[in-house]
Amino acid sequence: MEFLGNHILSIDQFDKDDIVKVFLIAEKMIPYANREKKTRVLQGAILSNMFFEASTRTRISFGSAFNLLGGEVRETTGIEASSLAKGESLYDTARVLSGYSDLIVMRHPEKNSVQEFSEASRVPVINAGDGENEHPSQALLDLFTIKLELESKGKSIDGSNIALVGDLKFGRAVHSLCKALNLFENISFNLISPEQLKLPPEIRQDLVYNGMKINEFNSIESGIGDVDIIYVTRVQEERFDSPKEANKYKGLLKLNQNIYTENCEPNTVIMHPLPRDSRPDANELDTDMNENPNLAIYRQTDNGLLVRMALISLILGVDQTLSDYDEDISWVSSKKSN
Ligand code: NCD
Repeated sequence: MEFLGNHILSIDQFDKDDIVKVFLIAEKMIPYANREKKTRVLQGAILSNMFFEASTRTRISFGSAFNLLGGEVRETTGIEASSLAKGESLYDTARVLSGYSDLIVMRHPEKNSVQEFSEASRVPVINAGDGENEHPSQALLDLFTIKLELESKGKSIDGSNIALVGDLKFGRAVHSLCKALNLFENISFNLISPEQLKLPPEIRQDLVYNGMKINEFNSIESGIGDVDIIYVTRVQEERFDSPKEANKYKGLLKLNQNIYTENCEPNTVIMHPLPRDSRPDANELDTDMNENPNLAIYRQTDNGLLVRMALISLILGVDQTLSDYDEDISWVSSKKSN
C-alpha cells in the first residue's frame, strides 16, 4: 500500500510487505521511545486526536508518538465536548478539523464512521476504533508483540497456535488482529467464547479460506493447553443493548495464575489489548498474574508507541529522515523497562 498521505482505516489495506515495513521502522523508534535521543522531524506539524468514545492508551500513545517525533497535539474527548453534540455532521467536522491539522486520529462508536469522516477530510485519518468494526493500529502493535514474544522463544508467527478468548463478536481488536494474522501461514486458532459471542462469520470464513485451523471452545481450561499465545479480551459492554445483557457474559471466562499453571505449557505468552475489567464480577485476567514473566500486556502497550510512531512517520513521509533531526535529550531519564 502507499502510506504517504493516505488514510489507515482497515487491516484490509495491508499486505505482508507493508507490515514488515511498519515493524522495521517501529524498531528504529526504540531510542526515541526510550528517551535516549529526540527528533524534531515533525516540528510544526499538528495531530488532531478526536476521541468520541472512551480511551486511555490509544489516545495517549498516539499523542505521545506525535510529540516524540517533534509535533504538537490537539484533542477532543467525548461526543458531548464536540459540536457533534449540537447536531454537526461528520462531514462538516472533517472539513473543518482537517484545516487545522496535518493528521487526524479518530475513534467513534459507530461502525464505518471513521471511513465516512475520512472521505470529507483534507488530511490523512487513522481509524483508532469504529464501533465493533476495526482497530488497525491495535492489530499492528499486537502482531508486533506476538512476533517479538515468539522470536524470543525461538518460534515464529507462521505455524503458531493462538487462543483468542472472550468477546470475539464485538471485540474490534480481535477482528483486526484476525485479518492481520491471515497474512501469515498455517496458524492454528483456538476460539474460546460464549456461544453468543463468537467471532463474526465473515472473519471466521476468511481464516478458513486462508487455510488456518480453527477449534472452538466455551471453557477456558479446555482451549489453552497447547497454545503459544493466549489473547484475552474484555466483554465489550458498551456494544450490548443493556448493561444487564452484558452482565450475562462477564466472569464466564477468567484466566488466573492457578488456571494457567494447571493447563498451560510453560512459557505460554499472555496478551490483552487492555483495558482489562478488574471488577470482581468480570476479572477476565487476574492481577495475580502480574509478576508472571510471560504476561506481555505492558510490553504490548510499550510497543504501541513504537508502532504508532512508525505509522505516523510513514504517512507523513519522514521515516527516512528521522535521524537528520536528532538531538540529545536535556533531562535525566529514569525510565525502566517493562
Ligand atoms: C480496545 C478497544 O478500544 O477496542 N482497547 C484499546 O484500544 N486498547 C479493547 C477494549 O476496549 O476492550
